[in-house]
Amino acid sequence: MASRVMPLANKVVLVTGASSGIGAATGELLARLGARLTLTGRSREGLQRTAKSCQEHGSEVLSVTADLVDPVAVENLVEQTMARYGCLNVLVNNAGVFERGSIENSPLEQYDRIMNVNLRAVFQLTQLCVPHLIKSKGNIVNVSSVNGQRAFAGVLTYCISKAALDHFTRCVALASSVIEPTNWENNSHLLPRLMQVKCSNGDLAPKQVRVNAVSPGVVITELHKLAGLSGEAYIEFDGICSGILSPLGWLPCLTPCTS
Ligand SMILES: NC(=O)c1ccc[n+]([C@@H]2O[C@H](COP(=O)([O-])OP(=O)(O)OC[C@H]3O[C@@H](n4cnc5c(N)ncnc54)[C@H](OP(=O)(O)O)[C@@H]3O)[C@@H](O)[C@H]2O)c1
Repeated sequence: MASRVMPLANKVVLVTGASSGIGAATGELLARLGARLTLTGRSREGLQRTAKSCQEHGSEVLSVTADLVDPVAVENLVEQTMARYGCLNVLVNNAGVFERGSIENSPLEQYDRIMNVNLRAVFQLTQLCVPHLIKSKGNIVNVSSVNGQRAFAGVLTYCISKAALDHFTRCVALASSVIEPTNWENNSHLLPRLMQVKCSNGDLAPKQVRVNAVSPGVVITELHKLAGLSGEAYIEFDGICSGILSPLGWLPCLTPCTS
């Protein structure tokens, strides 16, 4: 009998937000594909659940309980990963938070909470992982949202955090092909054309680190419930989202379903 192909055999993948929802499901899929994992989140119980399931698929797992808002915890996360595995092939920036509010009623504290997790922590963790990803010619996957591409009423801070994450993704994808400052000065009249050329090969930057974002629609996880959306309000929310973006109009549900 032919042995099963493990496309990610021995690759080291760090997944944030792995204690529930999309991050937990991602960890489990990566485990089935043969990856060695660092799983992180704040909930020890959630991490234990995901780790157990990944180990059942034969994956080596390092669980690191960390609040990504704490810069020291983020440094420690990378240090522990390197101490355990000695390399890093893929970073999945998945952890995220969601809160409701418009420009009239979103307090500045909410802006900070959302941006600190959805953007600042991604910035810091990516920065710390990049030297290792350059060595491995690895990958970064940022979990963004349809809310980054379209404006949705009543989720202002979340929308702008994901729009910023999308642009962060574009900028980092291109980072290693930036035009030298002297060229910028000498060729400023050519800038629009140069930008076009650079953008066209952004996905394969010269240091061969691929940087991409995925933008899910509504998926049933803890995300919206933690922001107080449940029952009828959840159905209505999905109706609004699917009416705009999904001709199918259904809620994708991860297994096991947490609703
Ligand atoms: N569900 C959707 O409909 C949907 C749609 C589009 C995009 N997304 C994106 O998908 C990603 C995952 O969300 P989800 O739906 O799977 O939600 P979820 O079930 O609530 O998971 C969010 C994850 O982020 C982690 N997290 C939150 N704050 C953190 C912090 N300060 N430090 C460390 N970890 C933190 C949580 O872990 P702890 O609670 O253990 O800290 C949890 O593991 C998010 O970026 C979200 O924006 C979700």
